[in-house]
Amino acid sequence: MSDTALPGGSRLRLAGVDDAASLAALKIACWRESYADHLAADLLAELETSPYHDATTWRARLAVPGPHDRTYLVEDGDRAIGMMSLGTSTLQAPGYPGEVRAIYLLRDFQGRGIGTVCVQLARATLRRFGLTPVAVSTFAFNVRAIALYERLGARRLGRATVFEHGGVAYDEIILGWPD
Ligand SMILES: CC(C)(COP(=O)(O)OP(=O)(O)OC[C@H]1O[C@@H](n2cnc3c(N)ncnc32)[C@H](O)[C@@H]1OP(=O)(O)O)[C@@H](O)C(=O)NCCC(=O)NCCS
Repeated sequence: MSDTALPGGSRLRLAGVDDAASLAALKIACWRESYADHLAADLLAELETSPYHDATTWRARLAVPGPHDRTYLVEDGDRAIGMMSLGTSTLQAPGYPGEVRAIYLLRDFQGRGIGTVCVQLARATLRRFGLTPVAVSTFAFNVRAIALYERLGARRLGRATVFEHGGVAYDEIILGWPD
């Protein structure tokens, strides 16, 4: 799956090492736009130097991907407006070998049907890789994303703490498509 058309004229493009800085900046922008009401301000302010978000981490990830790991940019013309990644599951979801790892869109491009198509494309790609059933996770506070995944047929599989910050535990809800 590469250079696939998405709603509104945007496109999905397989990302490479040269896209590391762009991916890091985009995901950080999405967290700040979409999670400001839920994550601590100091955590959001320090994302550029976080080992989970910085460009160096993305570069390493993209340079040596797992055999079925794929990262894509969503582009509107030349502008990166979102990202998606998928691969072998990293979740506590026994029996679900595939994972839609992340889908992030800048706020101006949310609610146009792009995320729905990305989920379907990711599931189809993981199916081709033989990595079904497929799981996905999202922060427990992200009730709209959970609603979207459930509307697309996912069922809740469990809940796990992703990290703690400032004495607060942030949990994720793990969902999966049984088929
Ligand atoms: C979640 C997200 C990928 C969905 O993509 P999208 O293109 O906006 O969604 P679609 O237009 O296909 O479908 C609309 C549904 O998506 C969900 N959605 C819309 N905006 C959302 C937002 N800001 N955050 C979370 N979910 C959202 C809702 O369920 C919405 O349905 P509703 O309008 O009836 O509430 C996108 O909104 C986004 O990037 N949100 C911020 C980051 C995020 O939550 N990522 C998912 C966790 S990995």
